[in-house]
Amino acid sequence: MGHFGERPLLRMARGGWATGVSALLLVTCGQRPTADDPASGNWTRYGLDDAETRNSPLTSINRNTVGGLGLVWSHDLDTDRGQEATPLVINGVIYNTTAWSKLIALDGGSGRVLWRYDPKVPGSAAANSCCDVVNRGAAYWKGRLYWGTLDGRLIAVDAKTGKRIWQVATVAPGAKNTITGAPRVVKGKVIIGNGGAEMGARGYVSAYDAMTGGLVWRFYTVPGKPGVRDGAASDAVLARLAAPTWKGDYWNSKGGFGGGTVWDAMAYDAKRDLLYIGTGNGSYWSRKIRSNGTGDNLFLSSIIALRPDTGRYVWHYQQVPGDEWDYTATQSIILADLKVKGRVRPVLMQAPKNGFFYMLDRESGKLLSATPYADVNWADGIDPASGRPRIRAEARYSETGKPFLGKPGPSGAHNWHPMAWSARTGLAYIPVQHTAGLYTSDPGFRANALGVNVPLRPATLALPDDPAARRVIRAGVTGELLAWDPARGRAAWRVQKSCLPNGGVLSTDGGLVFEGDCEGYLNAYDAATGRRLWRFDAQSAIMAPPVTWQADGRQYVTVVAGWGGSLALMLGDAVKDAAGRARLNRSRVLTFALGGRAVLPRRAEVIASPLPLPTEAADAATISLGKTLYHRTCFACHGLSASSGGPVPDLRLSPVSRDASAWQAVVSQGVLVQRGMIGFSTVYSRAEVEAIRAYVLHQAWVDAAHQ
Ligand code: HEC
Repeated sequence: MGHFGERPLLRMARGGWATGVSALLLVTCGQRPTADDPASGNWTRYGLDDAETRNSPLTSINRNTVGGLGLVWSHDLDTDRGQEATPLVINGVIYNTTAWSKLIALDGGSGRVLWRYDPKVPGSAAANSCCDVVNRGAAYWKGRLYWGTLDGRLIAVDAKTGKRIWQVATVAPGAKNTITGAPRVVKGKVIIGNGGAEMGARGYVSAYDAMTGGLVWRFYTVPGKPGVRDGAASDAVLARLAAPTWKGDYWNSKGGFGGGTVWDAMAYDAKRDLLYIGTGNGSYWSRKIRSNGTGDNLFLSSIIALRPDTGRYVWHYQQVPGDEWDYTATQSIILADLKVKGRVRPVLMQAPKNGFFYMLDRESGKLLSATPYADVNWADGIDPASGRPRIRAEARYSETGKPFLGKPGPSGAHNWHPMAWSARTGLAYIPVQHTAGLYTSDPGFRANALGVNVPLRPATLALPDDPAARRVIRAGVTGELLAWDPARGRAAWRVQKSCLPNGGVLSTDGGLVFEGDCEGYLNAYDAATGRRLWRFDAQSAIMAPPVTWQADGRQYVTVVAGWGGSLALMLGDAVKDAAGRARLNRSRVLTFALGGRAVLPRRAEVIASPLPLPTEAADAATISLGKTLYHRTCFACHGLSASSGGPVPDLRLSPVSRDASAWQAVVSQGVLVQRGMIGFSTVYSRAEVEAIRAYVLHQAWVDAAHQ
């Protein structure tokens, strides 16, 4: 794929039509699209093409016909934990990864299950995931499928049978790196990164031989212990450029192990033979803890260009020197050829968490522009000459010791939910999040052996008890689908969303933009104006990006519904609907086509039987200790202030919280570990676990008193 951003030459879909010069070319040359060309009707790569545009050339479903789009079939998945995957579709077969890193193959026309592969991820692996037990997708190459598992394995199976070909551990035994992102296949190598910066993980990306599973190269994104060589492709550049930007005993466990994890975005430019990876935030968040409060800490929050054959470093661009706001450069990377200041340039685009839309020259890594696409208050802009942000002094909360209400917050102005790029409209379609976060440095921080380790003062994370204040917060958790014109550095249109998260995006040459939302709809918008042309009541919030594909001359749209991920787990009451109910959540694969007439099964009403209110017994000091301990660990899954956002039990309403010994069995001993609830006996004493229960019961009482 060497013509990024140009109107793709091969526009003839199988059994479809083509127009203009390119059609003539096709007819005269008798050329047919190859199986991994988007014009073939297949969707063979995570971002559709190497440039990761997520813009399909298929046009039978278009502005004029989309009104006739209807459901063809739906398939219920076996778990209602978060679904974030981009399905691949090859010759009419859908390959979709689901929560707990399972892979399912479905017949695209009927939804019939062809095979399933369950890698049997141990429930304890959930302890190492910051953001739900999700998986974002597989890669395809020569009849084989590749995907990563939450516990760090990379698996290759035969696409026809689902039989395993090979499996490798991409992380060391006991390491806290997890895989939720999709691998990419470049020149016969499977490229895979991992996550875990909140757990103290050190970031790296690895390339495995697609045939054999042998490790070809590995590139670490941050330096390791001084004087110890990794024997990796990154050794020389880390010693030369990165190590001097880290201070203090950064390799010691108190500071975490660097971070910079490559947990999502990558793209490949075949013409320049460059693989681009995005790196994540610092581990642990506070630069004071991590690096004596100084240094750029390369290559955190950076785009790095590598040679895919060897992992050799070519260039980097760091977005956030010395990050301490969880600002990752791991959001969608899209390649296009764009006219910038009168000249067509090879551009790399990204709308990362930090709120600036970046365009780099992807040959040199030089910054072309960086424009805010959301509310930003951590920096006063990016200096065009040096490419460095002008970071505001008050944003450095670990230095000032004062709280900083940062915009965007740690969830970012845009997260993993993929954006799309249409060369026709010249617009990038970004699922934007309006978020803020209170950053407070925690002098009492100590890293736990299990679960997330965020060095912010735990009690400051809690939601206010006052329901009116909670309603205000809930009303502020909103987003928008933003059509961004990168050439002009401004918005073309916006569609406001009442809640978060909003879903990943698909655009098409049919003039459409598809996006699911937290209210439970899949929507189609006019790509030029943002006018909504169609929607479908999916009975479930949708986060995953839709895909479109074609088989036997019929164009389909497929999306996986389901609610979860970090926002859903963590924000609790702040992501509920206006009536205070958790968002609809049903994990389902949905497939649509023109004339589809299937209907979803009726949604079962859930009738919650209210439990008797516990009597308040604990003293204020115990409750306060419980609140702190809860907001060190439990909040990441059970929600701020013990208010669950839905996918994981609401502890205020749980019978287990009414029974001290059942509570100890679950929380200390971990009797539910296979279901993703680990035991915390290595972290908290029985008395501390009981203090958390006291806080949860107190919260149940406070919330009930407010009703
Ligand atoms: C990594 C995510 C995660 C973390 C962190 C976590 N939990 Fe859980 N917890 C779960 C899941 C998932 C379940 C539901 C398991 C099931 O399906 O039975 C659960 C269930 C529970 C239950 C049983 C509730 C019921 O009604 O069945 C209790 C009690 C509980 N957790 C308490 C805690 C406490 C206290 C902490 C912090 C010390 C904590 N959890 C941390 C994921 C987590």
